Amino acid sequence: MFTLRVLWQPICHSQDESFDELTCAYGTGAGRTCLALQYCQNNLEKFKSPRSGNLRIGFKSKRKKICEVLSTDNIEMEKTQMNREEALALVREFVKSESLVRHMLSVETSMRFYAEKYGEDVELWGLLGLLHDFDWEIHPTLEEHPQKGSAILRERGVSEEIIQDILSHADHTGVPRDTVRRKALAACDEVTGLITAVALVRPSRSLHDLEASSVKKKWKDKAFAAGTDRSEMEHAARELGVEIWEHVGNVIQAMRRIAPELDLVGNIQK
Ligand SMILES: [Fe+2]
Ligand SMILES: [Fe+2]
Repeated sequence: MFTLRVLWQPICHSQDESFDELTCAYGTGAGRTCLALQYCQNNLEKFKSPRSGNLRIGFKSKRKKICEVLSTDNIEMEKTQMNREEALALVREFVKSESLVRHMLSVETSMRFYAEKYGEDVELWGLLGLLHDFDWEIHPTLEEHPQKGSAILRERGVSEEIIQDILSHADHTGVPRDTVRRKALAACDEVTGLITAVALVRPSRSLHDLEASSVKKKWKDKAFAAGTDRSEMEHAARELGVEIWEHVGNVIQAMRRIAPELDLVGNIQK
């Protein structure tokens, strides 16, 4: 997300020398002016005066023109982070499968867990988990996912650092996993699927009585949740520097926090 900050001077009070500051974070529904500002930001060239090169934008409201942006010097853009609500709305826009949404929620909660553990930015880490597979339904091949999703994220104002982190979760992009955050994403990604699968075959169908030892019992059974690559998971945990069973325990703990959203409360009411 970007915040467009405009110093503006109401035209109807042209004698008034003082400038007001109008701040508007778009994408958050701040209304018509907000949309106008977004349009201007996307089309800055159109608004330049051919003679002076200054930027001239008039906004119209019910009371006609309310302000005029006097020059590009008065506009500064400040990068702000997409918030969780916006990220979830984006996920819901592109993902119809509830199990894929739950996968991303699982990775999100696990990322938040590790960010807390390491004293990192919980919102940023969570956002990465929540968005990492948002384009899988529309780009269900490795030729497209997650590379093609990047363009959409860029359009929606997602920061480049998150986009690059998302690219790093797929080996074929060649974006290295050279930060703890990227390592955590890789380590949390697949294991959440195996944990979900184990929870679902237990009589309780619950995360609340699921322990790492239950997952361990299924670890060697290659036919169980065959799509999840155990050696890949071990490798990713090792890269993160966490012993695999401790890691599984951490992810279970993280997923328990949102067991109702994951539909994994089962018959154990908390
Ligand atoms: Fe993915
Ligand atoms: Fe994933």
